[in-house]
Amino acid sequence: MRAFVSDIHSNLEAFLAVLSAADEVGAKEIICLGDVVGYGPNPKECIDLAAKRCRLSIMGNHDEAILFATETEGFNLRARRAIIWTRAVLEDPQERRKNDARWGYLGKLSNRVEDHALLFVHGSARLPVKEYVFPEDIHKKGKMEKIFAAIKKVVFQGHTHLPGIFTESGKFYTPEAVGNTYQIGDEKVMVNVGAVGQPRDGDPRASFAVFDGKRVEFRRVAYDLEKTIEKIYAVRELENFLGDRLRLGR
Ligand SMILES: [Fe+2]
Repeated sequence: MRAFVSDIHSNLEAFLAVLSAADEVGAKEIICLGDVVGYGPNPKECIDLAAKRCRLSIMGNHDEAILFATETEGFNLRARRAIIWTRAVLEDPQERRKNDARWGYLGKLSNRVEDHALLFVHGSARLPVKEYVFPEDIHKKGKMEKIFAAIKKVVFQGHTHLPGIFTESGKFYTPEAVGNTYQIGDEKVMVNVGAVGQPRDGDPRASFAVFDGKRVEFRRVAYDLEKTIEKIYAVRELENFLGDRLRLGR
């Protein structure tokens, strides 16, 4: 059984809670679908933990923006300020050797990884780092057809921070709608595993998914979000809103 995590966004408390939950359910390996950093207060710790615990890590748009200073187009001001702050933290000369390893980790992230009929990306099968696939996109037939054409059978993705299943026949199911489990059938599907560190579906608990080869199970874990919020408040470059939204899961 594999656990899929995504959009950790430098939220150490949420990441630790998800890793223990994944261990508890007996996940043999953890796959990270990108955005380890950005928005949150613990970029170094989250990179170190992802490097240690994740069998495989995919490049997210925030990871890419931190790696290539030129890639901050398309981000709003608060995201951009968080990216600039994160880069400064990773350039701290006091921790040169550790930071070299962290840049090395970011530099080795893959945009997409195929594993037989499975595909792992951050955004979409078509544009792996940047494209969003939102629930309402089921009404955009052309977009969905083109993305499904790039999928063999199942793609695991993140990026929107909204967990759920998209089917080739044009449906979107929230985890709630399917009782948190979805059996892979004949249809191609996209599985969004939600966000560890900044959920946006109204549930503040950290989100992840496990997969046994046939069945996807969506899971939520409560964590000490007040601790994360306090840390965000303490960093001038991270807007308080980035903390406040964790309470709401928005
Ligand atoms: Fe993200």
